[in-house]
Amino acid sequence: MNKNKSIAVFDSGVGGLTVYEKLKTILPNENYIYFGDLKNSPYGQKSKEQLLDITSYIFNYFTSRDVKAVVMACNTTSANVYEEYKNSFDYKIYPIIQTCAKVISELPIKKLGVFATSATISSGAYKREINKYNENIEVFEMACPGWVQIVEENKQHDEKSIQLIKENLDGMLKNNPEKIILGCTHYPFLLDVLSQFAPSETFIDPSEFFAQYIKSDLEKHELLNSDGGDEEFFVSANPKEFKVAAKMFYELKNEPKLLEYQY
Ligand code: DGL
Repeated sequence: MNKNKSIAVFDSGVGGLTVYEKLKTILPNENYIYFGDLKNSPYGQKSKEQLLDITSYIFNYFTSRDVKAVVMACNTTSANVYEEYKNSFDYKIYPIIQTCAKVISELPIKKLGVFATSATISSGAYKREINKYNENIEVFEMACPGWVQIVEENKQHDEKSIQLIKENLDGMLKNNPEKIILGCTHYPFLLDVLSQFAPSETFIDPSEFFAQYIKSDLEKHELLNSDGGDEEFFVSANPKEFKVAAKMFYELKNEPKLLEYQY
């Protein structure tokens, strides 16, 4: 494998930028391709079959771009399609949930909350993967429908949005979790709001662990690039909206390019 090839990162929209920003900071000399599938967002309300169909196009596109690794920043696809596709391509695939579960399972806690999309929660992936390493952690999972749209539409400070977020958080806090995982890449965009109602240290954004793991794994396999630094952004719809919503985590120099596909 040629270490100068690009790393691809994908998500249903801007959420994956929470991961991308961390990767770019610790691995600035890589070449990156970022794909945000805004046309099919939100993934969290899709069935497993739909997600398998959608991601097959995305994986094939990355094959055509001859990348060295694909970062499944999206929790929903990590939960629902990683197992099916993990051995299907020549590049390395990094799924966020399975990669971060071990580090999370080593935290000194007994009760853990997880906020994620409906499709992630109904897969049970967070609970399963964490309890695989540590069965003494009690995991409380909660789906948060509507949160992804709030972020994509940049409405995190609307009264209605704050009310919905607070309602979900109140429900979760009844379980007395010591920490709550933000198990969807879009949710760190809501930290400002969440922190109005619970201490910000309560929330864990797994992207930090994820980026560190990817760095050490590429290092281990002698796949680190010291000579790149290029980045390309693609979306399947709404490039203008993407650029605006992205701002909070990553300032894009240009609008992303449109990459249309039919599924
Ligand atoms: N941001 C993705 C995730 O981490 C998917 C959100 C969605 O499109 O519903 O799960």
